[in-house]
Amino acid sequence: MKGKDGRMKQVKNLVNITDLSLKEIEYLIKIADDIVKHPEKYNEICKHKKLATLFFEPSTRTRLSFEAAMLEMGGSVLGFSEAGSSSATKGESVGDTVRTVGCYVDVIAMRHPKEGAPIVASQVCQVPIINAGDGGHFHPTQTLTDLLTINRCKKRLDNMTIGLCGDLKFGRTVHSLIEAMQRYNNVSFVLISPPELQVPDYIKESLKNSGTSFKEVQRLEDAMPELDVLYMTRVQKERFFNEADYIRLKDSYILDLAKLKEARSDLTIMHPLPRVNEISREVDDDPRAQYFYQVLCGKHIRMALILYMLGIDPLEKWL
Ligand code: CP
Repeated sequence: MKGKDGRMKQVKNLVNITDLSLKEIEYLIKIADDIVKHPEKYNEICKHKKLATLFFEPSTRTRLSFEAAMLEMGGSVLGFSEAGSSSATKGESVGDTVRTVGCYVDVIAMRHPKEGAPIVASQVCQVPIINAGDGGHFHPTQTLTDLLTINRCKKRLDNMTIGLCGDLKFGRTVHSLIEAMQRYNNVSFVLISPPELQVPDYIKESLKNSGTSFKEVQRLEDAMPELDVLYMTRVQKERFFNEADYIRLKDSYILDLAKLKEARSDLTIMHPLPRVNEISREVDDDPRAQYFYQVLCGKHIRMALILYMLGIDPLEKWL
């Protein structure tokens, strides 16, 4: 595709977490940690740069953390938070929307309810596209957030057992996290869900192909003692075709202090949020609960990612 100057240009995009090598992920984690150590270095690093957040689907954390990340680095932000306030309502295609916005900004973060929309966008857009969640498909920047959180809490990304609990069928955060973590050494998964919400077959195939150990269980209590990380997820009402199924499954798992009695003292409890009732409020004060720290990690890693997409190398080691 052509860049803003009209010449052919190779553009970096992040559609799936596998678009990043482990080396690139390690580098982003290093930048995120450097941001905490030397915040003053980053105050104006994106001066005169612009980010668009194009959210065709609701969000609190992803959109606002992208915006906070860019503002904290001295850049500017524009965009929309719902499809209804864009020309999508007049029938404009995603491709035409991003080509248009690409004339105004340096990088685009987009969320769309349709799986694959960011791929289509990345094929026609002249500036980098970051997938901020596409339907039940992928959510790579949540995964970067999760990897940074795990690395900060555990001081490692290998040699661990991760329990994923709740809606593993439609949960895009779960799909992306499995894709990412199966690339590290000696990581195993315990997949905790009702039969109706098990991970899709293509994810199980990918686990088998990578030789990653995993098992499927229905009771959270059974899995608890062996877990280093417990990743809770919401049963997502918006992904169900049938309200009766949602009502039947919505309270399948509720993590409370009683269930944590069998857990390790160094367990890390995560959740991409928003939560409804799957983690009881009493758990929030337990030192193992890291889901609000995870939110903060999301801002740090998105700052690192924006810099990477813009070709700015604050550590002067990569580019
Ligand atoms: N974790 C996450 O994607 O949250 P939002 O839907 O609020 O962005």
